[in-house]
Amino acid sequence: MTGLRQIAREVLEANWCEGATVDGVPYAYTRPSRERYPEQFFWDSCLIALAWSRLDPARARAELRSLVAAQRPDGHIGHTIFWRAPVRLSRTPGYNVMRRSDRATWTIQPPLLAWAWAEVADRSPDDPGFREEGIAPALALHRWLERERADDDGLLGILQPDESGLDATPAYDAPLGRRAHPRPGFLRLVRANRRRRFSYRRAVAEGDFHATDVLVNSAWSMAWSGLARLGHAPARDRARQVADAMVARLLHDDGLMYSRGPGGRPLPVATWASLAPLAMDDLPDEVGHRMVRDHLLDPARFWLPYPIPSTSAAEPAFRPGAQGWPAPRYWRGPTWLFTPSFVLPGLLRLGYRDEAAHLVGRSCRLVADQGLREYYDPYTGAGLGARRFSVSAVVVDLAERVGGGPLHSGHDSIPPSGEVTG
Ligand code: GLC
Repeated sequence: MTGLRQIAREVLEANWCEGATVDGVPYAYTRPSRERYPEQFFWDSCLIALAWSRLDPARARAELRSLVAAQRPDGHIGHTIFWRAPVRLSRTPGYNVMRRSDRATWTIQPPLLAWAWAEVADRSPDDPGFREEGIAPALALHRWLERERADDDGLLGILQPDESGLDATPAYDAPLGRRAHPRPGFLRLVRANRRRRFSYRRAVAEGDFHATDVLVNSAWSMAWSGLARLGHAPARDRARQVADAMVARLLHDDGLMYSRGPGGRPLPVATWASLAPLAMDDLPDEVGHRMVRDHLLDPARFWLPYPIPSTSAAEPAFRPGAQGWPAPRYWRGPTWLFTPSFVLPGLLRLGYRDEAAHLVGRSCRLVADQGLREYYDPYTGAGLGARRFSVSAVVVDLAERVGGGPLHSGHDSIPPSGEVTG
């Protein structure tokens, strides 16, 4: 095994962590970063499972089973799970917990579980029961989301920006103001939500911050598609309904989807979340083509030398480098490797094979040159943020999806040995 597969495997193995809680619940997961993010993070785990599925599918299954082991009896699975120790005392006020001893936060992240489970099941011929095993926990999570978070049209709401996965995204600057992540006022938002027991319904009733987020709802449709692939047939219609409701409510005149804030106000700030609907099987083709042609492939917006920047380069809030100290302001410009797993399926489905190969080739190039960093400068490719960051190992999955194509074709191939395919 050479090249990228080796880089990915080394980091994932070093970040792997397994054991049992004091009350005997076994866990096994990959820390996104040993130093900076030692806990289990919901959507990181889903993407990391995709990487493991190409390297060691048994670990991919263990990773997802650990998420499920953290499921509450009511179906909820937290944004962050504290397997090894409770959240540090000094950090408790800023965490979305009710009390320090909580095993997980009360908040959510993009609910990709069933989607990731279906992907891993496809690569688990040695564990034929795994596919069906995912249905009950995924359904329980979906029922919780429907009960606690869904509006009348089935779209989900969030009560904090970090629930979108994109903590400091400029999309929420306007409605949050001084309470935007990670400004000091953010603690006030957390406190208000703690008082409401992190209830979305109560946040809506009290007219406080809440949003219908494009990325979370794209993940919601993907998860229903995943559940259908696991064998739960009614989920197929649900995936389509979510996609239809997004087109009806979130699609803007310019061809992008934007999140809506309190009072249903559109928040037209172009971030990569606006492109995430490309991942949905049920996105109408004409909507997808417009997103790709008018936005994604525009070199002044998203098609930068190292695509895809987390915020469009045409946005006033766009900053290509790291921002914020000591608390980083994430997702305001740099390229993160969470993104291609959402955009690539759309490019392939709509027939943009060269562009898909280019995107994967550039993503692999970042990792080959800079290692697995948390994010990268979209112009220079310089690695930024945490080092040895697990999610960036997902490039091994991306490479498989384009059939190793970019590694051997003219599309900015990875070093001559064609390392990615291993
Ligand atoms: C940051 C990111 C979030 C991710 C977490 C762990 O908070 O914004 O999306 O889950 O780090 O990697």
